[in-house]
Amino acid sequence: MTSTSRLQARGLTRRFGATTALAGVDVDLADGELLAVMGPSGSGKSTLLHVLAGILPADAGTVTLEGRDVGGLDEKQRSLLRRRSYGFVFQFGQLLDELPAVENVALPAMLQGTSRKDAVAIAAQWLEALGLAGKEQRRPGELSGGEAQRVAVARALITGPAVVFADEPTGALDQQTGHEVMDVLTRTTRAAGASLVLVTHDEQVAAWCDRRIDMRDGRVVAGPPPTPAPPVAAPPAARFETGAPVDEADVATVAEPAEQMTR
Ligand SMILES: Nc1ncnc2c1ncn2[C@@H]1O[C@H](COP(=O)(O)OP(=O)(O)OP(=O)(O)O)[C@@H](O)[C@H]1O
Ligand SMILES: [Mg+2]
Repeated sequence: MTSTSRLQARGLTRRFGATTALAGVDVDLADGELLAVMGPSGSGKSTLLHVLAGILPADAGTVTLEGRDVGGLDEKQRSLLRRRSYGFVFQFGQLLDELPAVENVALPAMLQGTSRKDAVAIAAQWLEALGLAGKEQRRPGELSGGEAQRVAVARALITGPAVVFADEPTGALDQQTGHEVMDVLTRTTRAAGASLVLVTHDEQVAAWCDRRIDMRDGRVVAGPPPTPAPPVAAPPAARFETGAPVDEADVATVAEPAEQMTR
């Protein structure tokens, strides 16, 4: 591996019965890099994310995190790895409906051994930094879709993960709300020094990342997709100069205690 690769995959294959979901995939994710994974439905994006994140074992190939082979871990070790080193933001379903927002965010920290009191205090700081002050006690069902995704972002980042994995995090949101969530997700990820693997169908969502790869039939294909992408009007950051819920300095401040809890 190169010294700058945080996460590296080589020759990943994965079949489901007769279906080849991954047909030999290489990925390099640099420290702090934000990578978009694009491609049509069924091309293997989610399978790749799941294999990279240790949710699903590959049939063949290697995955290394910071130089350590994590592809061959057993289920218990993979579960520990996910908890310690990774954060997850999915389209929906990652929040526990019966818990208030602040406890949803605090939970991963508590699972790592942080006391309930400290974890809740840190979680409240995260919610405040993400523009959700006053909504700490709301349950996910009492939040808007965009607010719930911001809670999910805080939940993914609270443990100071090495890599955040996001699968269609804006897929259930309208465009404006989706962009607000991408703004929060990418800024907090950068401020925390994490890398990001983001699966999306949406060119404009991918534009928030540093780099993109395209998948077809279980392979990474070079270059732009066959259909020209619609022009992206302006760099996303420029559209959110005002009204952005996150101040990068604030996030850096709250990211610090979270980082101490982990690696
Ligand atoms: N658990 C599974 N069992 C059987 N087949 C699966 C399973 N998961 C994925 N597949 C198949 O593997 C292929 C790749 O699926 P994957 O979910 O990775 O695609 P995707 O690119 O994420 O698609 P989408 O954009 O629709 O989410 C598809 O043909 C899919 O039907
Ligand atoms: Mg998918």
